Amino acid sequence: MPLSKKAPVIVIDGPAGVGKSTVAREIARRLELPFLDTGAIYRAVTLVMLRENIPPADSPELRGRMNDFSVSFSGVRVFIGGEDVTDEIRTPRIDANVSPYSALPVVREFLLEIQRKQRENGLVAEGRDMGTVVFPDADLKVYLTASPEERARRRCSERIAKGERVDYDEILSQARARDEMDSTRDVAPLKPAGDAVILDTTGLSFDDVTERVMDLAARALTGG
Ligand code: DC
Repeated sequence: MPLSKKAPVIVIDGPAGVGKSTVAREIARRLELPFLDTGAIYRAVTLVMLRENIPPADSPELRGRMNDFSVSFSGVRVFIGGEDVTDEIRTPRIDANVSPYSALPVVREFLLEIQRKQRENGLVAEGRDMGTVVFPDADLKVYLTASPEERARRRCSERIAKGERVDYDEILSQARARDEMDSTRDVAPLKPAGDAVILDTTGLSFDDVTERVMDLAARALTGG
């Protein structure tokens, strides 16, 4: 699709397990734009803090560590320094600990610059506060939703595909707890931007969702 604007920014927000990453990655691929998975950045911070026994509270220790924090991406791989942490940031231990670190204003402030720096060549970014805080001037804001049960089923399928053993009820209750915490925190809570297009993906396939977002992108980026 010919893009009329320079450096287009498309953001996709929504709760855990709604399929944001898969859809956003595919949109980025089709539009030949860089892809930014901001959840991976919060996960990487969580991994660093857990490894170094720094609790989720605003402290000189945590600030010092955030000062030195850097994360990089290569395709689907995520690196802290030179270390590939792609698999380790997706473990249940990180799932269970990421929300308290993400709720800290100091963490969010540090990460704001890191995220905004990535927009130079345009991007498709996914997360919780892309449309509300990080890229409020995005060309297109999409907010994906799906019932908690559907999201838990999708997470189970992902884990089963990776050869992991899963407990549906546990995944469902963890997803609910994480959504509750992400939606009710004081800073940058999970919520659609006023100008976001809300898309309920319950019962829709990955292809359906991708096509709908591509239609929205085509309209947004060609001014149609
Ligand atoms: O999308 P994910 O499940 O990988 O995100 C992990 C956690 O990171 C999520 O529970 C909340 C936090 N997060 C956030 O607070 N803001 C973002 N933009 C992205 C993720």
